[in-house]
Amino acid sequence: MKQKEKALFFPLEEYQKLAEEVFPHLKKLVLYGLGEPLMHPNFLMFLEIAKIHLPSSASITFTTNGSLLDSEKINHILENKLADEIIFSCETVNENIPNQVGHSLEEEQVQNNLDYCLSHKYRSNIRIGIETVIMDSNYLQLGEIIQKFVAKKVDFIALSHLYPFNESFENETVFSMITTEAITILDEVGSDWESIVLGVSREKFAEKLQDSYKAYYQFKDKLKPKERPVSEKYQEYVKRAKAKNVLLNISLYQKEFNKRNKLNDLQKIFDKCKIIAKKEGVDLILPSILPVYEERSCPYNDQNGSVIRSDGEVVPCFKYLWNHDSYLNSHSRFSSFYSYGNISETSFLDIWQSQKYSSFREKKSKMNENFPYCGNCSFSSNNCFYATEDTSDCWGNEPFCSECPYSVNLTKCLF
Ligand SMILES: C[S@@+](CC[C@H](N)C(=O)[O-])C[C@H]1O[C@@H](n2cnc3c(N)ncnc32)[C@H](O)[C@@H]1O
Ligand code: SF4
Ligand code: SF4
Repeated sequence: MKQKEKALFFPLEEYQKLAEEVFPHLKKLVLYGLGEPLMHPNFLMFLEIAKIHLPSSASITFTTNGSLLDSEKINHILENKLADEIIFSCETVNENIPNQVGHSLEEEQVQNNLDYCLSHKYRSNIRIGIETVIMDSNYLQLGEIIQKFVAKKVDFIALSHLYPFNESFENETVFSMITTEAITILDEVGSDWESIVLGVSREKFAEKLQDSYKAYYQFKDKLKPKERPVSEKYQEYVKRAKAKNVLLNISLYQKEFNKRNKLNDLQKIFDKCKIIAKKEGVDLILPSILPVYEERSCPYNDQNGSVIRSDGEVVPCFKYLWNHDSYLNSHSRFSSFYSYGNISETSFLDIWQSQKYSSFREKKSKMNENFPYCGNCSFSSNNCFYATEDTSDCWGNEPFCSECPYSVNLTKCLF
């Protein structure tokens, strides 16, 4: 059931307890959530507590919109070496371009905060980075964004695709969930289009296929050949793909057909950005444009990471922090909050080592073996019960990681 989570500041006492119990075991502490970390009235104190309890080799990082920093806070952080990395979010360098996520560092005070950090960072060897979310409304500006921050001599710039939490965000994404291998075969299908589809235009194809899937689900045996939008010949392509261990999501391929030029343009923009960043020695972290399926892996698993919500709930990643909608593969999905326990009732280490959480991480260590991949699956864009409802995936895995853009290097976090 959808219910609204309460906005809450992580309580100081709980944080202190956690710091004593868990921080001595950490390599990295990431202090942010979905809100702005500097809104927390004890944020600087949180950094100080972390500094006391983390091993000296561990690092502290936070991402901010920069608006609540000031020279006094920055001095305090630098003089006491309270952070190793501060990341500023920025999606546009042009105030006139509408942007959905809403970070611009153009505001004078934010600009001053970034500049102050950059000109004083030598005092504590801190790294200053920029995080930019790629969207339809800003991807043509990426070169300009990179140029601006390279000139300011930031240490790194990290780009991520947009996670589509609502329908309009899906149209803002500049990536595809279909793998290169599947696209290669579907391109061949496309060149044979007339003999594959049964009198349906490209524009109407996805709709027609969805109708026929619906009919298929309801009256499996009664679906007549003429009611299928694809001919028998298509099955030859499907067989060929299967032999290469690839499934074909022809509906999504058709739906995204006109997006292909945009994806190619984005690749060219990335190539230019790489040259600009390399010339000035700035690290540029880029996502993929098509899924990196062969190396599919959970970024939280890769870093042995976990997320603790402000009310103490321990969740596997940001996606499970709260109840929300997702719009991927041309369908909506309700994703529920998913917790392995609460640190106010059970110690974090007990939750981390619990059988349930451990076996989930163990399964995730081999994603391709243990999780199906919805991006290539024709059912995903055609009312797959598992992909639309909040249950397990079709292999029985819970929670649902089979349609995760983080696992295929499209959306990025924990840089
Ligand atoms: C959720 S914010 C929280 C920290 C802070 N309030 C900030 O604005 O940087 C952390 C990062 O996630 C990015 N972000 C926000 N919404 C996103 C989305 N739908 N998909 C991908 N990244 C997103 C932000 O741009 C920011 O760089
Ligand atoms: S949804 Fe993605 S990021 Fe989250 S736990 Fe699953 S694989 Fe990892
Ligand atoms: S849950 Fe399984 S059947 Fe459904 S879209 Fe994903 S891979 Fe396909």
